[in-house]
Amino acid sequence: MKSSTRYYILLITAVTLYFAVSKVIFDRVNETSQIIVDELFHIPQGISFCEGNFSYWDPKITTLPGLHLTSAIVGYYFPCNTYNLRFVNLVASCFNLMLFVSILTFIYGSYNERQIKIVLQALSLTILPPLYFFSHVYYTDTLSLLFLLAFSRLCFGHKGKWLILLIGNLSVLMRQTNIVWIAMVLGHKLLDILIRSSRVYGNRYLSKTVMSQRSIIANDVDSSKLKRYYTISDVIVALKFHLSTCFKVPFKFISLSDLYVIIQQLSVLVSFSIFLYVNGSIVIGDKKAHEATIHIPQLLYFLLFYGVFGLPYVLAKFISTTKLIFKNKFNVLLLSIIIGIVVHYNTIVHPYLLADNRHYTFYIWNRWFGKYDYAIYATIPVYVFLLFSLYDNLKDQNCISFLLPYCICLFFALALQKLVEIRYFLVPYIILRLRFVRPSFKVVWFELLWYIAINLVTFYIFFTKEIRWDDFEEVQRIIW
Ligand SMILES: *[C@@H]1O[C@H](CO)[C@@H](O)[C@H](O)[C@H]1NC(C)=O
Repeated sequence: MKSSTRYYILLITAVTLYFAVSKVIFDRVNETSQIIVDELFHIPQGISFCEGNFSYWDPKITTLPGLHLTSAIVGYYFPCNTYNLRFVNLVASCFNLMLFVSILTFIYGSYNERQIKIVLQALSLTILPPLYFFSHVYYTDTLSLLFLLAFSRLCFGHKGKWLILLIGNLSVLMRQTNIVWIAMVLGHKLLDILIRSSRVYGNRYLSKTVMSQRSIIANDVDSSKLKRYYTISDVIVALKFHLSTCFKVPFKFISLSDLYVIIQQLSVLVSFSIFLYVNGSIVIGDKKAHEATIHIPQLLYFLLFYGVFGLPYVLAKFISTTKLIFKNKFNVLLLSIIIGIVVHYNTIVHPYLLADNRHYTFYIWNRWFGKYDYAIYATIPVYVFLLFSLYDNLKDQNCISFLLPYCICLFFALALQKLVEIRYFLVPYIILRLRFVRPSFKVVWFELLWYIAINLVTFYIFFTKEIRWDDFEEVQRIIW
């Protein structure tokens, strides 16, 4: 059989299987609960748009109305009810599965990797437990991820004339924090161009040869200085060189297709800036509940997220990480002190975290961090280990042109949020997961089974555990 035929058969089988199983769970969720946590505002909003009434807007909703606008389209063809509104997300998750396959194929190269291995990994990413849960309810996460993945795929492939601009704006319309990741993609591209264009003959910061700036040879790429992965010192060399030549060289190296992509990404950023200016804040609606603060421990909680959902990768590298830690005793000490200061002075507890017993974060907080005075300090060794483990999984195939923009964007995406919500970690984790060292078959299977197990447990809790709130008629359930 031809390789491409086998690929499509595999893909169709995976999507069909995924949809069939998920549909059963989806129906069960529908029977179990008609209003799940934030759906209290989202569903009436969606129903209103679905019925063509655009004058109603619930101020409790803090995202842009992308999700609710899709319901207006649903309203043309289907009855406006909770089931149909939620169904959009289940369909979106099927598209996410296909996009993951496409992105992984691009990353690993279609001829170097067994197709079954790529499909299994895409399946794992689609059923990443918090993400998978929100694919069954009327939340923004799944649909917003769909547009972000499509945006990335288009940027990788330099495809679709003006599609990048359109999809980029739509992804912001689904969830305005997506702008951070769009900025990251742009930052990655620009830094890459900046570094590569500094590897030229006549760059005196790179080699001893000094040449006149006007000499023609100064513009030629010095292939002996080109590398696959650059480090921070290469960034410094690039900056020095470009400052000394007034940033004239990069323009000669930007290809037309790069320029096309960059202009579109910049346009998305500009339109967002206009929105910021008009709106006066990144949040719309209930601004009080989402005040911006500096909350650096969010980055540490993100490491815990990696520890749980990246467990197969943590274990696969366990011995090598341990060795790395023993080789860097001084850095370990320094990091522990820094993290100690951070958790001591910057641990912030949002009132929702203490009050809302429908989220797992509530239980983690009340049974560990909030219960024992020493807990925030006792977790420091775990953070340090996980940070080294993450570094270990990324270091061999990631360039500073990705890592630097990623870290800056991660800070903006997480460390300014007061409330700890597990779903905020989804996009940053997925981006990293796509950049880990190529996993072995064992790790791929472990990841899939691990996610299936976590989903089984959490859906079981969702279906069976009931929480009664005095001021709500409907039974409340525990979700991510
Ligand atoms: C969804 O659940 C509601 C309430 O239990 C039920 O009336 C409705 O028929 C369900 N929809 C579908 C399509 O199963």
